[in-house]
Amino acid sequence: MSTLTRADLTVHTPAQGRAPWWRQAVIYQVYPRSFADGDGDGIGDLPGITARLDHLAALGVDAVWLSPFYRSPQADAGYDVADYRAVDPLFGTLADADALLARARELGLRVIVDLVPNHTSDEHEWFAAALAAGPGSPERARYIFREGGGETGEEPPNNWESVFGGPAWTRVRDRADAPGSPWAEDGQWYLHLFDSKQPDLDWGNPEVRAELEDVLRFWLDRGVDGFRVDVAHGLVKAPGLPDWAGHVSMVEGAEDADDTDPESPALRSPEGHHAHPPMFDQEGVHEIYRDWHRVLAEYPGDRVLVAEAWVDPIERLARYVRADEMHQAFNFAFLVSPWHAPELRDVIARSYRANDAVGAPTTWVLSNHDVVRHASRLGLARTGKGPNGIGATDPQPDAELGLRRARAATLLMLGLPGSAYLYQGEELGLPEHTELPDEARQDPAFFRTGGVERGRDGCRVPLPWEQDAPGFGFSPTGRTWLPQPPEWADLAADAQTGRPGSTLELYREALRLRAGLGLGLGSMSWSAEHATSPDVVAFVTTGAAEVLVLTNLGDADVALPGGWSALVASGPLGSGTDGDAVTVPVDTTVWARRI
Ligand code: GLC
Repeated sequence: MSTLTRADLTVHTPAQGRAPWWRQAVIYQVYPRSFADGDGDGIGDLPGITARLDHLAALGVDAVWLSPFYRSPQADAGYDVADYRAVDPLFGTLADADALLARARELGLRVIVDLVPNHTSDEHEWFAAALAAGPGSPERARYIFREGGGETGEEPPNNWESVFGGPAWTRVRDRADAPGSPWAEDGQWYLHLFDSKQPDLDWGNPEVRAELEDVLRFWLDRGVDGFRVDVAHGLVKAPGLPDWAGHVSMVEGAEDADDTDPESPALRSPEGHHAHPPMFDQEGVHEIYRDWHRVLAEYPGDRVLVAEAWVDPIERLARYVRADEMHQAFNFAFLVSPWHAPELRDVIARSYRANDAVGAPTTWVLSNHDVVRHASRLGLARTGKGPNGIGATDPQPDAELGLRRARAATLLMLGLPGSAYLYQGEELGLPEHTELPDEARQDPAFFRTGGVERGRDGCRVPLPWEQDAPGFGFSPTGRTWLPQPPEWADLAADAQTGRPGSTLELYREALRLRAGLGLGLGSMSWSAEHATSPDVVAFVTTGAAEVLVLTNLGDADVALPGGWSALVASGPLGSGTDGDAVTVPVDTTVWARRI
């Protein structure tokens, strides 16, 4: 008999008052290179997306988030922006962007675009001007240029490493015409937290702030519903750029901080725990988002700012979504949670506690363009954050197990009140491509780590639309910028449409029920019977009706509690030995309503 009271079991009650659309929205991430190709060059583009938007309307999502399509040399697949106000010819034209927005509006879909404010491309006109103008110029002051250390400036200004591997500094050639200069690169150094082709902007410079605000207005005026803000935790660096003996990687944030050195600035965190590094999550970022909040508030229609911030712990992340800052932040703690009932319950409860405390909706996400797809991640021997990419010689995921768990994880996620993010292709149950040849890889993380990290190409493979078409209908010519695994034929969208039990039909049904039952704005309490179970995550959510969401993560069937009748399940349900009690098999989620 459980001794838990009702108050112990209640995890979340929705905020009072008017709920803007984004509080409960399901938002679908389109990665433009890989969604659909209109012009046949094998790389996805805006007309390709527009032509396939009806797939998203039929899926039942509320909004689309587009990864960058701006002018860019594509050194980091468009996260290296050379012109924030232009569309790269690879993806189309500004008129194509307008046409996409118009078609989305017709279909009732909102559109969020990516904003990359931490760095530009080294091919941005500002960076070219900075190189030309030389040390001490106002042009250099838009970026983070410093003199090097050592006798001749040959040492980088500090010991920071790039997130993609290697040093975070690159030296430029300033005194090329100085007679007898013994060094090829003999000038200042510039900071790049990512690739050397992504120089960091200096957010202490008012000109940088004014320019990016203007970019916000440029896209708001064109009718976008909001922005996903790239590396939102990185814009402001600690004063003096102090050394930090740690490595920061994409998925887990800071790791290996030198917390044995009492002088290490890394130790001086407000929490006093193995702290955040001096390049991330500095107090100054919040002022920027307060300014942006005001800019968006000038526009009608509840525009939204979404933080991509790999910040830990959840309570710290919630500071980005205080009432006058951003509206949402990706919940990466949920994404990296192991497939383990107590840990999932813990991250769910903590997420609500932290976000409810600041009045923000909690978000949920399982996959994106930077992580191993959850249909593969959950089939690895060790679930949880997963490696940065998988190669042919690495331990391979169990595909069947991964897909079963992925479907269960998705149904669990979509039952949770709040807003959820889907990554293109997860509705098809796509696995990671884990056997990409090295020659095909393009992610700078692969090259900058000498292949130690396989990188993110495996989750970016062009989508399969048509089972029988060349390139599975991704492109009219059959070309695809990364090879598709042949097994994807069965997973093509047309092959799954109308097929009972297909992953696509499961997503459609779940999204239909979620909207109809108002689950996104519901309250949420643990099921008393399972509240401390080592094997089961189960909760009751109350929107327009009461729904029990139950996931079995154990190794034996679990009975569906009496008084509930199944609405949808991530896999076939079973009958108990007495012939009538419904059972939920291992790695399965069910939604049920009261009888
Ligand atoms: C973000 C993006 C990632 C990119 C990085 C640098 O984390 O999601 O794809 O490489 O920022 O812009």
